[in-house]
Amino acid sequence: MTFALVPFPLALTATEGRGLRLREGATIAGESSIAAGLAQRLSERTGLAVEASPEQSERARVDLRVRVGGSPESYEIVVDEASAVITASDAAGLFYGAQTLVQLVQQDAGGWFFPTVAIEDRPRFAYRGVMLDVARHFFPVETVTAYIDRAAALKFNHLHLHLSDDQGWRLQLASRPRLTEVSSGSSVGGDPGGFFTHEDYAEIVRHAASRHMTVVPEFDVPGHTHAVGVAYPELVERPVLSAQTLETVQESGGSLPEAGVPYDGVAVGFSSLKIHDEATYAFLADVFGELAELTPGPYVHIGGDEALGTDPADFAEFMTRASSMVVSLGKTPIAWHEAGAAAGLDRATIGQYWGFTTPIDGAGEKTRTFVQRGSRVILSPADAIYLDMKPHADSALGLTWANGPTSLERAYSWDPGTTIEGVDESDILGVEAPLWSETPRTLADLDALAFPRIAAAAEISWSPARGVERTWDSFRTRVDGLGPLWTSQGITLPRAP
Ligand code: ACM
Repeated sequence: MTFALVPFPLALTATEGRGLRLREGATIAGESSIAAGLAQRLSERTGLAVEASPEQSERARVDLRVRVGGSPESYEIVVDEASAVITASDAAGLFYGAQTLVQLVQQDAGGWFFPTVAIEDRPRFAYRGVMLDVARHFFPVETVTAYIDRAAALKFNHLHLHLSDDQGWRLQLASRPRLTEVSSGSSVGGDPGGFFTHEDYAEIVRHAASRHMTVVPEFDVPGHTHAVGVAYPELVERPVLSAQTLETVQESGGSLPEAGVPYDGVAVGFSSLKIHDEATYAFLADVFGELAELTPGPYVHIGGDEALGTDPADFAEFMTRASSMVVSLGKTPIAWHEAGAAAGLDRATIGQYWGFTTPIDGAGEKTRTFVQRGSRVILSPADAIYLDMKPHADSALGLTWANGPTSLERAYSWDPGTTIEGVDESDILGVEAPLWSETPRTLADLDALAFPRIAAAAEISWSPARGVERTWDSFRTRVDGLGPLWTSQGITLPRAP
């Protein structure tokens, strides 16, 4: 039988036995916060009262143990007819074992049970990310934390927050208060905007950490900065209305970007900070300095995509300075792959590829430069893993620019290790699934776009490239099997096409 496990573990053996019965009053012993989370998830799923308790009662049948040794985030599960034991090398591994156990629980005529199995598991990639764009539309803390819960249950361990774009600035900064006083009220389509206070951001970081996720914040520069110019007009160039911008405006409606006026359309590539003005670098020092202070994780994302109106030499000079500034703040910069063209980019900078699964227009070459400088890359091929693409042609939500709608099968059918020539398995830090917010406005919208394709991203990030269950047929069956669990977690699944 195929167990409805996503991402599928490294090794799974169905062992002899009729399974471990889960009964009312069962308790879970071990690391208290993980035990509490597991008890809650099992209660939600089964309707049984399951509790975390250090006391080994008659019914204490799930045990969480940390052992010394083993690779980071790895775990084992052994279920027999008497107990289920998760043993892990660290708390993250224990947490991931708990997520697997929640997917294992099933129901027959005799009630709920865990099948008798032995599982051994560890991730393929160290960086398994999801990205949420809170700039095109703003999502409040409770939506972000709900999305964290969804992603963590699929063993993602990084949340990239796209905190600024042409349509709005979403993090309050003491050093540059006008960014949120003046430039946070707008979003796509004239919808209300919003922003996070320091306390909101700290709450997101805390919630993510409790699910073993690291927050990767992004201020996108030098392009995607129209909102900066609404607050601080002296820092930006006038909008550059390229043929592409005009075409997007014609297709999607809305007004043309206008200097100093909040922008609520979906065109890209028309804005830029002033590259040859030292005031720009004072601004960067303020905003990235404050961001680095607020961020406990190792990464700060500096954007660098779609600076279409910026001269290439100017772009290179800017990205060089921005990347070295972030390094001097004690953080590792991440930048979209276009930044690879900047010869002086700080060598520590990690590149994030957002081209297609078959690279075009030099995107593969630009991405390879990060590896040639001695760093690594994150892969987010837009035609496979951009969760904001329409899942099928009739979807009301989503965009189509990345080679048309992205089916679940296409989302599953690519391999990071062979996507870019000269970027091999060991050059890849990991994989990230972005969700841009031109069309989604609510948590239900995010769910309808993300599910079930986020599960494909999870399996590609975590599971070995090859294995008997690493097939589209197996994946499709397992995803179908997870539907009831996702529904029990309050996830709004999209209607099938
Ligand atoms: C991007 O989609 N412009 C990173």
